[in-house]
Amino acid sequence: MKKLFYTAFLLTLIIAGYAFISTTPINTRAKLGEKLFFEKILSKDSSVSCASCHKPDFGFADTSAFSLGIHNRLTKRNTPSVLNMKNRPYFFWDGRAESLEKQALMPISNPDEMGLPIQEAIERLNKNETYKKLFINIFGTKPNAKNLAAAFAAFEKTLETGDSKFDLAFDNKGKLSAQEERGRQLFLSDETHCFDCHKREDFTTDEFKNIGLYDNDQSTDKGRFEITKDSSDLGKFKIPGLRNIALTAPYMHDGRFKTLEEVVEYYNNTSAFVSNPINIDETVEKPMGLSKQDKTDLVAFLKTLTGKKQAAKIKK
Ligand code: HEC
Ligand code: HEC
Repeated sequence: MKKLFYTAFLLTLIIAGYAFISTTPINTRAKLGEKLFFEKILSKDSSVSCASCHKPDFGFADTSAFSLGIHNRLTKRNTPSVLNMKNRPYFFWDGRAESLEKQALMPISNPDEMGLPIQEAIERLNKNETYKKLFINIFGTKPNAKNLAAAFAAFEKTLETGDSKFDLAFDNKGKLSAQEERGRQLFLSDETHCFDCHKREDFTTDEFKNIGLYDNDQSTDKGRFEITKDSSDLGKFKIPGLRNIALTAPYMHDGRFKTLEEVVEYYNNTSAFVSNPINIDETVEKPMGLSKQDKTDLVAFLKTLTGKKQAAKIKK
């Protein structure tokens, strides 16, 4: 009897919870964008949504080196986080999209990702009464390519994280541990030069740099060069921001490093990993000579960059 009571109680809770979620009104571009971000009908066979690869529980990145699109096709590069995109001047590892609006429609039509021509995506949304109404209420017009892109961009611009342990310490509202503080000092130092590239509020200067992974042998992705065809851009990739970095393994454009320890090991002596790098940036060319302690300190610092909301998600 008791068991039955609890089951009934639980069921009521679930139904009430569901009713709450389903009645939370979608009345802004950002909320519509959020719904669309999880919408599988935007892929050819309705099997994949943006969130299939940009997983909310993992800093909106993926947990494998390459992600699965429709028909189990693999992406050509590692899926980056879409957190903290608001202040980025361009998108993708090679920077080929200049705005979130321009970026948003590309994965839908990309044959390795969602594989649905934009025209078809718009037709599907117009045939769906719920979406048609939502677009008319929010944009004053039926779904079209422009307002679809605007909705995605509006949602993504809400995904800012500024409440990490690092931020609290920076605002004198908290404190880094001695180890994290040593890591921070190292990060800023001329020994590591991390801060030359991973600078400003999101830990990126938004430039393209080559950290020595490209050798046109083991690694053939030419990065920024594919866009500019300028030989000085060979092997350069967008400097990724480092907020929530503890959640977004594996790392680099090809997801080659599984842990932050491996990343630090790489920077400490890049030539031990890639013997004939092409066009490597001189700041990361020479061995840094970090001690074991230095390396763990650096990793401890990187782990302070996780936003609170994201941290809570991962602990579940
Ligand atoms: C099949 C996996 C997959 C799906 C589905 C997918 N993405 Fe991505 N996303 C990626 C990969 C891989 C990249 C990096 C590609 C590159 O740089 O060449 C990326 C890059 C991005 C970026 C740029 C991030 C940065 O740091 O520059 C944004 C923003 C983004 N995706 C948003 C979206 C949106 C919005 C959707 C849904 C409409 C979506 N993605 C669907 C895999 C996916
Ligand atoms: C010369 C500029 C430069 C310097 C110096 C530099 N980085 Fe990077 N960092 C980059 C670029 C560019 C990438 C992306 C490279 C790629 O994927 O090919 C990157 C990638 C990373 C990543 C992986 C990010 C992800 O989302 O996959 C981490 C972590 C990282 N760097 C930490 C550091 C640390 C710690 C230091 C100092 C020891 C450092 N970086 C020094 C430019 C730099």
